[in-house]
Amino acid sequence: MYKTKLYILLILIGIISCKEEKTTVATTTDHLEKKVNNLLAKMTLEEKIGQLNLRGTSSRVKGALPEELKQAVREGKIGAFLNVMNTEYVDELQKIAINESPNKIPLIFARDVIHGFKTIFPIPLGLAASWDTKVAEASSRVAAVEASSYGVRWTFAPMLDIARDSRWGRIAESPGEDPYLASKLGEAYVKGFQGDSLNDPTSMIACAKHFIGYGAAIGGRDYNTAIINKELLQNVYLPPFKAAFKAGSQTVMTSFNETNGIPASGDKKLLKDILRKQLHFDGFVVSDWNSVTEMIPHGFAKDEKHAAEIGINAGMNMEMTSKSYENHAKKLLEEGKISEKQITSLVADILRVKFRMGLFKNPKRDANNSGNLYAKEHLELAKQAAIKSSVLLKNDKNILPLDKKTKIAVIGPLANKPREQLGTWTFDGDKAHSITPTMAFTKEEVAFNFVEGLSFSRDTSEKEFKKAVNAAKKSDVIVFIGGEEAILSGEAHSRANINLPGAQEKLIKELAKTGKPVVLVIMAGRPITLTNIIEEVDAVLMTWHPGTMGGEAIYDMLFGNQEPTGRLPVTWPKTAGQLPLFYNHKNTGRPASKEEFVHIDSIPIGAWQSSLGNTSHYLDVGFTPHFPFGYGLGYTTFQYSNLKLSTNKLTNSNQLEITVAIKNTGERKGEELVQLYVQDVVGSITRPVKELKGFKKVLLKSGEEKTVKFTLSANDLKYYNSELVYGLEKGDFKIWVGKNAANGLKSSFVYE
Ligand code: BGC
Repeated sequence: MYKTKLYILLILIGIISCKEEKTTVATTTDHLEKKVNNLLAKMTLEEKIGQLNLRGTSSRVKGALPEELKQAVREGKIGAFLNVMNTEYVDELQKIAINESPNKIPLIFARDVIHGFKTIFPIPLGLAASWDTKVAEASSRVAAVEASSYGVRWTFAPMLDIARDSRWGRIAESPGEDPYLASKLGEAYVKGFQGDSLNDPTSMIACAKHFIGYGAAIGGRDYNTAIINKELLQNVYLPPFKAAFKAGSQTVMTSFNETNGIPASGDKKLLKDILRKQLHFDGFVVSDWNSVTEMIPHGFAKDEKHAAEIGINAGMNMEMTSKSYENHAKKLLEEGKISEKQITSLVADILRVKFRMGLFKNPKRDANNSGNLYAKEHLELAKQAAIKSSVLLKNDKNILPLDKKTKIAVIGPLANKPREQLGTWTFDGDKAHSITPTMAFTKEEVAFNFVEGLSFSRDTSEKEFKKAVNAAKKSDVIVFIGGEEAILSGEAHSRANINLPGAQEKLIKELAKTGKPVVLVIMAGRPITLTNIIEEVDAVLMTWHPGTMGGEAIYDMLFGNQEPTGRLPVTWPKTAGQLPLFYNHKNTGRPASKEEFVHIDSIPIGAWQSSLGNTSHYLDVGFTPHFPFGYGLGYTTFQYSNLKLSTNKLTNSNQLEITVAIKNTGERKGEELVQLYVQDVVGSITRPVKELKGFKKVLLKSGEEKTVKFTLSANDLKYYNSELVYGLEKGDFKIWVGKNAANGLKSSFVYE
């Protein structure tokens, strides 16, 4: 039962303390290929082509299911559906498939269950900020339990696109900029969605997406071209997918973009050489929405038939929504442009997954699975996830946590927006279940005065400013809750300017003039550039889009019942002009340095061209981010000391043990995320200035000290060089253990 795993995860996270017996479910791997082949031998060509068809039109169906759709299923012309959100339709379609279609092959029902189904968790970028794989796994388990009750057994998640540009709207859905963290999260999500056994009616098969390079869209503009060299592909973009496949992800989705001139859905090298041969993936590939026929506007296919030919030859198994395979595969076969063997092999990959899911034995939606929608423990997990995801960026004079008796003025367009706090990709989350900050404050009987000031995040009207300022004057502290509405991030929602939209900056400046301390709580799908207002506010708490329980989480954090423990999974820019920006960049031949940096305002008039020192920086904003990767404050302070390496010579036969003492030097209990970074100083291709190689959380009482230990072996340091050889070259390494990518105790070792 799903409960087993979920409960274990909840116990680990400390949400519940009861225990259940673990049940083991047998897997169906025995004679799998034989079963697939036996079935294939009975199938007609039409039926095989049907399996490659993912039909996406049924969500628009109202009333009874159209006869045309039922007939297509009856004839075996559809392999899977997406977005059928009426359980009666799900049951009816499946019934037709298993009773009336030629070989009684069950359908799979898919949906974008991205960060929760009904109970909405923080957006994936927020969950990434938790750096907590247990929370990631538990949240996707809950999502699977809830969604499977609607018959959804396939989710188009996790999104594992490395994202280094906050302008990109889909950074909200991403695991951030780092391949190590993204890999750990990818593995956790897959485990959570798929559960202990694919046969379990509460498991959903995962879909690692988007393969590949979607997050490398030039300029952060969605769908844009990506240019990724082969080492970068191997060292940065592929590792999270590799981890997801290792964890058993049954499907992978090709991306919309082209990389180096080839759209992913027609990229034979990517789908055959890399995906199948290198990564040993044996599930199936699904295209993105119409991405096969979008090879036409890409300028890669001349028409729909050509697109089908390219997709089939590339090994792209299942076509989402467009119908080029359905319309042209037969003709292409007659013309000898593709072979039946190819079709059969594409179908085999799909059937293999259907067998693994136990669909042939147990095709029906489990009517006994209520999904426990919005169950108490689901909501509690959502709240804890929101707290663990929230990043405290600034906290001058320890203004936070607030005393419970503080009179607060709550101002801002997102203080009471049940829908907006859910964020992007939340088709099924019902805003009626959201707890907003003002709802939580009311429930907790906080003394607060609420004036929205702006009625939505892009609002430019100043008509409520006066009222807001008056409310501020009557309070001890101003809590401004703003950011971006849900619609401003997500697919196709890139922004070139990532400041707070509308008149929010202006209002914050007006409020700050009252002299009352300002606490800025941000809900947004991406880092928001704060340069214009950072000096006006005393504290900044980034909650991303925190989900259903965002309000309660914010209440608990502001008033100190709990501590925000999130750390940035992306580098936070000062201005969009710095993007793309990421900590694990390469050095240049002229690295930037404090000593050589000259600000634009300090350049003497008429200065001689090379008199300023030529290093890699911007004259106006320098070379550092606003907040580095891994950054985040808490409600206490920690001191790092005594960094020790067990040896300064790493070989293939030993391991390096790294220990560091962490002491809580503040007055309250707190959790620290201890991060381990390494630099391979010289390589046959240049190496990043730093790479995350480990992280650990440590919970310490005031005054308590603990030793944190990491272990590294040569394997952990391997990378792909310019010959695409995966290995490690002898030489010097630097190592840091610290609070973020720009801080740490430093040491070094040699690999021999
Ligand atoms: C998105 C995918 C999503 C699909 C199905 C596309 O527009 O890029 O991530 O899974 O739609 O909804």
